[in-house]
Parts: sequence; structure tokens; C-alpha cells
Amino acid sequence: MHYCSDSTFDDNLEAIEADFRFYYDCLMGPNARSLLNAMKKMGELGNIRIIANGHGPLLYHNLELLRECYQNWSHKQAKAETVVAIYCATDYGYADRLAAAVAQGVQKTGVGVEMIDLTTADIQEIQELAGRAAGIIIGMPPSANVAAQAAISSLLAIVKDKQVIGLFECYGEDDEPIDLLRRKFIDLGVKEAFPAVRLKEAPNAATYQLLQEAGTDMGQLLVRERNIKQIKSLDVNMEKALGRISSGLYIITTQKSGVNGAMLASWVAQASLQPLGFTVAIAKDRAIDSLMQEGDRFVLNVLEEGNYQELKKHFLKRLYPGADRFAGVKTQTAHNGCPILTDALAYMECEVVSTMECSDHWLLYCTVQDGRVSKPNGLTAVRHRKVGNYY
Ligand SMILES: Cc1cc2nc3c(=O)[nH]c(=O)nc-3n(C[C@H](O)[C@H](O)[C@H](O)COP(=O)(O)O)c2cc1C
Repeated sequence: MHYCSDSTFDDNLEAIEADFRFYYDCLMGPNARSLLNAMKKMGELGNIRIIANGHGPLLYHNLELLRECYQNWSHKQAKAETVVAIYCATDYGYADRLAAAVAQGVQKTGVGVEMIDLTTADIQEIQELAGRAAGIIIGMPPSANVAAQAAISSLLAIVKDKQVIGLFECYGEDDEPIDLLRRKFIDLGVKEAFPAVRLKEAPNAATYQLLQEAGTDMGQLLVRERNIKQIKSLDVNMEKALGRISSGLYIITTQKSGVNGAMLASWVAQASLQPLGFTVAIAKDRAIDSLMQEGDRFVLNVLEEGNYQELKKHFLKRLYPGADRFAGVKTQTAHNGCPILTDALAYMECEVVSTMECSDHWLLYCTVQDGRVSKPNGLTAVRHRKVGNYY
């Protein structure tokens, strides 16, 4: 993991957990099959007492648990019914980090990812993966690389019009031109899952967020039908009963390293008195998820009954990855740096303290540091539902 502290060993599991998972999701998950093989070989070594990583603390205290995590996550990845193939020249430009971001975005939707290097893999391997992948993502390789050219031609020869593609530039010095390749795929009847990502400057936090959202868009497109079927198969009476759980309407607004995010939320409930705290459930494939990690700060804006339709409509609009979610909305800046919606009934400045994985959602426990109400007699917008299989 990319984690650095004074501890030589993994004595503080809580401190390293998030980085351990993040590293897996970005770099190991896309190679789950090779990882399982490697772990099998490792098992043959017998009683392992320490795993000395290239970087991050040495694994000693939690060896069993951490190995089990890698096993379980990799089995889940390798068994994923739907797979996206990511092809790039990993040693070129910013390809590896951009590919990791797009991979993480895809995996948030429960779709598996496999990554292959365009310059070193053999054509058979490239085509085998392309043959079973539902989506194909290509990081543009250097145009002068003969092996990459041959690999791309082999991809063009095998893609089917049922598959979807996504292309991104790698900010190397000599990227293969994106438009030419994009046109070739479109002429073959392959649809784009997200607009090609073109880079005019060296990647920054906003670029990685954009790539992650692009990956999520592809994943969501691939699982949409399956998710609808699953929702429809729920017991109708149970669904109706659950629908009687009602709540308020809120907009979460964030800003972190120059990247902003916002989301309409209703699964919000107070959870503690001292300190004042509440929980909010965030679906795993939400764009805002990466800005709502432990320690992150945000604003919870409370919408007002009879006066929320415009804000609700605005924040539910589907935007292209990377678009400014606050264009045309009145905001002020909170002490914690996040935007406050001027037209909200009240706002609270909050911090994510801990998270709990609840199947398809993350449940976030958050504490409140500050807050104001704009209209003393205003009432919170209430959300009444007929069924419990949506918000
Ligand atoms: C009334 C209503 C309440 C919602 N509440 C939540 C919620 O509590 N948690 C959540 O993850 N999504 C919730 N959503 C869904 C998100 O607001 C919406 O799908 C999301 O903003 C899409 O963002 P994304 O594509 O950027 O991830 C709700 C949607 C509606 C219509």
C-alpha cells in the first residue's frame, strides 16, 4: 500500500485498512487472476511469518486477515460475470495512474476489470480477453510503438457491436491520435460508454476523478439491465412496507483538492448526541464516493418544503464526467472550504468519521462542526415513498 508512518509493521490495522483496500482496487484487482496464481505459489512456501512489501508497512500482525482479504476480493473479481478490459502501455506517460483511476471507477459498479499491457502482451492474450469483455477501454499508446499498433489492429479485428468502448489519452509525448481510432470503432458499430478523455495538461486530481467517473459510467451502462431485473424481483408487499420509511431531502456538497461534488440524498438519519452526528448511505457507484472518505469534510444542505424543486432538479441532472456541478447555482464557501447552497433551509459543516460497508451502499457516520438555519420557521422537505426499492 502507499502508506507511510513511523511503524515498521502493520500494528495499527485501522490506520492502514483504507490504503490497503485502495491499493488493491486500483492496482491488484485488475490483475486478480494472476494474483490468485501468485498467492497459490506463495501458499506452497509453507508457514509465512512476514510479508515484506516493496513499500508500506511490513505485514506481520494481521497476515492471516490481510491474505484472506486479497483471496476473497480476487475470487470475487475473477468470478465477475461482466468484465471490462483495459489496454494501455503501462510504462508510457501517465498511463498506469490513469488506468488505475478508470479501473477503480468500473469496479465501483461491481463489474470486474482486467488490465493488459499493449506493448508486452501477446496477441492471443489480448484477443482472448477482448472476446469475453463486455467493455473495452484503451489508454492511447505511443504512436511509434510497433507492438502496440499490432495489438490495436488485433482488437479492431475482434470487437463486436454489442461491446462498448472508452478511450483516454495518456499524456505521453507521442500518443496515437484518439480521433482516428475512435472513428474506426464507431464504424464497426461499437458504442462509446463515455466521451473520449483528452488531456491538454499533466493529469491532476480533477483528471483522476474524471477518469474514475468515466469508468463508473461504463460499469453502470453494463449492469443497468441486470440491476433493473433484480429490483423488479423483490417481494411487492415487503417493498411497500419498506417504502413507509420516510426521511428528509438533502444535498451533500463537497470540495477536495480542487475537485467538487454534490449529490441529492434522502437516506440521512441522526445517529449520536455527543458529539452531534448522523449517518448517510451512499451507493458504492456514486461519483461523490471518492470525496467522502474517512476524514473528508463536506456540507449537508437541508432542503425546504415547498421550495426545493429547482435544486433537486439541478442536482439530479445527469452530467458528463468532470462537468461543474455548481454552474448556475448560488453558493457561499463554508469554513471547511465546501460550497453551501444559498437557497437551502439550513446547512451543517461535517466530517466523515467512519464508514461501514452495507452491500451496495457505504454507511457513513459523520459529525457536525458548525451549522445555521436561514429561515427560523422553515420546514424540512419530507420524502414520502410508495415503495422501498428506490430512494
Ligand atoms: C429523492 C432522492 C433521494 C436520493 N437519496 C440518495 C441517497 O441517500 N444516497 C445515494 O447514494 N443516492 C441517493 N439518490 C441518488 C442520487 O442522488 C443520484 O442518483 C446521484 O446524484 C447520481 O449521481 P452520480 O451519477 O454522480 O453518481 C437519491 C435520489 C433521489 C431522486
